[in-house]
Amino acid sequence: MDELSIQLAAKMIDDSEYLVALTGAGISRESNIPTFRGEDGLWRNYNAMELATPEAYANDPELVWEWYTWRHGLIRDCTPNPAHMTIAKWEKDGVLKHLITQNVDDLHYRAGSRKLTHVHGDIFGLKCTRCGYKSRLNEPSEDIPECPECYANLRPDVVWFGESLDAQVMNTVYDQLERADTIIVIGTSGIVQPAASFPLVVKNQGGSMIEINVERTALSNMADMLVSGKAGEVLPLIDQHLL
Ligand code: OAD
Repeated sequence: MDELSIQLAAKMIDDSEYLVALTGAGISRESNIPTFRGEDGLWRNYNAMELATPEAYANDPELVWEWYTWRHGLIRDCTPNPAHMTIAKWEKDGVLKHLITQNVDDLHYRAGSRKLTHVHGDIFGLKCTRCGYKSRLNEPSEDIPECPECYANLRPDVVWFGESLDAQVMNTVYDQLERADTIIVIGTSGIVQPAASFPLVVKNQGGSMIEINVERTALSNMADMLVSGKAGEVLPLIDQHLL
C-alpha cells in the first residue's frame, strides 16, 4: 500500500460534503469471517444453490439450518476489527453520513455504527416462511426454530439468491446515494447486483469513488482513488491523515 494513495484518499474524504460507505465481506475478513469468493471463500467450498435459496430451504431445511448455525457460532465468536472501528468513529465524528453494508454479520453494529443499512439482511434475524412473523436469535439454535404464530419453520432473515431486496431498505439506500458526493467502497468484489451498481449512482451524479481492496475488482475501473491493502490497515491510516 502506498503512502500517496492514503494521503489522497484522506484529502477526498476531507473535501467531501456527504460521504457514504459501501462494505462487503472483505471488511470482516480480518475478523476471521470467510468471504464468499476468492481463495478460501464460502462459495468455493459450498454450493450456494443448495444453501442460500428458498428452494434449498424448502427441500432440505435441516442442511440449510445447520450451515446457518455454524455461521451464527462463527460470527458470534468474532470481534470487530480496526476497519469496523474506524468506520464507526467516522460516523461519530460526522465524517461519514451513512453506511450501506452487504454483510449479514453484526460487526459494524458492535463497532458502534448506527447510521447503517443492511441490504442483504441480518443473519441473526428470523422470519417465518409462511406468515409475516419476525424475531431475532439470541444464541445459535441447533434445531430449526418454529413460528410461535403459525408453526411453520422460521428462516434466517437474509436475502437469498433469486429474492429481491426489501423495498423500504432500497428506498433508504437510494435516498442516501442521491445525497452523496463521495462513496468509499471497501472489501467487495462488486459482482452481486444491485449493490454492485450503488457506486455508479454516485458517479453518475458527478460524485467520486474511493475503493479499498486487496485486489482489483469489477468496480476498480470506476474508482477515482484506489487504495490497495487490507481494510483493517488502510482505514486507520487514512484516519490518521484526516484534518
Ligand atoms: P466477496 O466474497 O464476493 O468479495 C470479497 C472482497 O473482499 C474481494 O474483492 C476481496 O478481494 C476483498 N477482500 C478480502 N480480504 C480483504 C481485506 N482484508 N481488506 C479489503 N478487502 C478484502 O464478498 P461480497 O462482495 O461482499 O450475498 O459479496 C457480495 C454478496 O455475495 C454477499 O453479500 C453475499 C454473497 O453471495 C448475500 O448474502 C445475499
